[in-house]
This record gives sequence, structure tokens and C-alpha cells, in this order.
Amino acid sequence: MATRKKKKPSPTETPDAVLRAPAEVEYAKQLEALFQAERDQAPASWKLSPRSVLQYIVGGEPLPLKVGKATEEVPITRKFFGDDALVERAIVTLASERALLLVGEPGTGKSWLSEHLAAAVAGDSTLVIQGTAGTTEDQIKYSWNVARVIAEGPTPDNLIPSPTLVAMQRGGLLRFEEITRCVPDVQDALVSILSDKAIAIPELPGANRREAKAGFNVIATANSRDQGVNDLSAALKRRFNYVHIPIVADKKTEMAIVEQRSKELLARYAIPATVERPVIELLTTVFREIRSGKTAQGVSIKSPSTTLSTAEAIGVALDAALHARFFGDGEVGPAAIARQLVGSVVKEDLGDLKVLKEYVSLVAQKRGKEDPEWKAFADEAQRALR
Ligand SMILES: Nc1ncnc2c1ncn2[C@@H]1O[C@H](COP(=O)(O)OP(=O)(O)OP(=O)(O)O)[C@@H](O)[C@H]1O
Ligand SMILES: [Mg+2]
Repeated sequence: MATRKKKKPSPTETPDAVLRAPAEVEYAKQLEALFQAERDQAPASWKLSPRSVLQYIVGGEPLPLKVGKATEEVPITRKFFGDDALVERAIVTLASERALLLVGEPGTGKSWLSEHLAAAVAGDSTLVIQGTAGTTEDQIKYSWNVARVIAEGPTPDNLIPSPTLVAMQRGGLLRFEEITRCVPDVQDALVSILSDKAIAIPELPGANRREAKAGFNVIATANSRDQGVNDLSAALKRRFNYVHIPIVADKKTEMAIVEQRSKELLARYAIPATVERPVIELLTTVFREIRSGKTAQGVSIKSPSTTLSTAEAIGVALDAALHARFFGDGEVGPAAIARQLVGSVVKEDLGDLKVLKEYVSLVAQKRGKEDPEWKAFADEAQRALR
């Protein structure tokens, strides 16, 4: 019997795969294994104990996961690379009266850590408010279904709860991204929520106060680059514990982040390519040297106006792999990295082009005389920069 070939989807058909699932879905097995192995007491409304939350974030021994009668080993991977003490402090804050503010340079993994903390602590990382200049108080508290209010008046059914209100009612975590982008008036709406742990709804008659269940807390993130846009008011500062997320200090850790994250992201695009160690090392070296304005040999070089974050390095590795897969032979070499690098370093300031040119001719080419990897990188970079 002839087997019918699987029909290729036409370009107008949309596949139903999700591009990016929330952490609690993506890492559901690891969370469930930690839950099954739990020995400690979890705080009220928490899904896991603080010790297990830490293990989920920094990784640990593989754990058995029972599904029906079968058991499988689930590796607990490291999600956030950096100082474990910093993660511990963040977890302790979430169990306390105070809210948590993760501050740091762009691309240091603040949102990433916040998402994983919310997934492990509350089992839901999707209660998010994205702070912008246009964020309103309604988006932080509640709004109304206007058509129904006109017809029926304000009733609890006509209320549209904000992510804050939902988190309060469940004893969950609210993630507030880029809080310093919000104007001060809007930030102030949070002051009363954080001190009273309740929201009053004066439009509703009778019992119009919604109180937060135990476990409710807020994880906010702020970019230290634009902290000046709208500084937090003193009242709000006092209600947050600040945890500063630094740029990854050592090269080995940065290589590990780029390697693991690019592998995970390539799997998402179903691309079989891997970026090999030596190429990752070259990429991180370039980023670290340009970022710090100093080469490994101690030679000073100019640094660009953009922050060359670890996130940018991951982006370059991923783009290089996609380019190699689509237009090359699938091999991600130093030349592929060089090709993608320009767009990461040179953004608004065309002066940064000079910085990159200087780096290529003074540093990369010199190394290329002895090292074929660096030669391939320097040659392609020069071509791209011409
Ligand atoms: N220390 C780290 N550990 C693990 N992943 C990291 C780390 N630093 C950066 N990343 C990776 O970088 C990417 C971007 O991180 P994220 O979006 O959280 O940065 P951010 O600090 O929120 O930046 P921004 O201030 O621009 O919002 C993520 O894919 C994340 O995995
Ligand atoms: Mg962020």
C-alpha cells in the first residue's frame, strides 16, 4: 500500500506551536519533580519551600519524577547564573513583608530571574504589568466593563481585575516590569497596595475592600540605565528590598550562560546546529574585551556607547546559527559570529563603528597571525565593516 506523504502546510496555515511558553510550562517537569521530593514546609500559598525554589533557580541533583506507575530522572538545570547568595536574598524577600526590586544594567537577566522566581514560588509567572510612560493607575488596580456599568451600574461582575488584584486574591506574585518607566503618580498607586495589602473599590457599595491573601508579593525590575527617567519615590523605595544584578563577572560563567541559552533557544527553533565551545569562547572574549575597554593582554581599547550585555551575546550566537543554517553549511564558525556582531555593537551611534574597526585591526588581526579561529573572525569582520 502506498504511504501517503505528509502534507506540507501552506504558508497561510498557522502552526499551533507556541513560540515561547511561560517558565512554569516550559519547566513543568522540573517543578513537579521538586514538588514530589519536597521535605521542607512551604510558606502560605507557596508551591515550593524556599530551599526547593533555590534549587530550581540555581540547579541541583537530578530528581525522580513519578508519572502514574513510571518513574523518570529529571535533571534540575541552572536557570540563573551568578551569585547564589543573591538569589537567596531575593527568595527571603519574597517571603517577607517587603517587595523585591531587581535592579541592574540591561540584559543581565532581571526579567528572566523574576519569571523563574514567580514560576517556582507561585506556579504562575504570567501576572505581569509592563511599566511604560503610558501605564495608568487602572492597569495597576482595576477597571470596569463600561458598557455593562452603564446598563447595570457598578457590580462585582462588571469589574475587570488587574494582574495585581488577581495576584492578591490568589496569594500569588505580581511581576512589575520596568517600574521606573511609570510616572510617579502611577507608581504611588503601589504604595498603598504594598502597605495596606488591600485595594479599596469605592464604586462598589458595602464591603468594597479586597484584601490580599497570605503569599501575595511583588517582584519589580528596573533598569539602572534609565533609573533617572522616573526615580522611585522615597515612600516606594522603603517598601522594596533592592537586589542588584551585576554583569556577569567571570568569563567561564558568561560562556556557560551563552552556551546553555543558545542551545535552549536553538531547540525552540528546531535547528539542529550547535555553537561549539571555541566559538562561544571567541564570542565571549570579544564581548568582554569591548565591554571593559581592555584586552586580555591589558591593552586599552575604546568601548562603545551600547551596553554589550550577555543577552546580546546570546542573540549574536543565535543569529549566527540561524544564518549558518539558512544560508551556509550549518557550521557556526568565527566568521558567522563576525557577520552578526556589527548590528549588536553599532546601534544608534555610528561612532561605535570606529570602535569595532579599531578592535578588529588592533586586536583580532594580531591574534589571527597565530590562531586560525581569530583569523577567520578578523577577515570576515573586516569585510562586514567595509
Ligand atoms: N546571569 C544570567 N543567568 C542566566 N541567563 C541570563 C543571565 N544574564 C542574562 N541572561 C539571559 O539573557 C536574556 C535576557 O535577559 P533579561 O531579558 O532577563 O534581561 P533584563 O535584565 O531583564 O534586561 P532589560 O533591562 O533590558 O529588560 C535571557 O535569555 C537570559 O536567559
Ligand atoms: Mg527586563
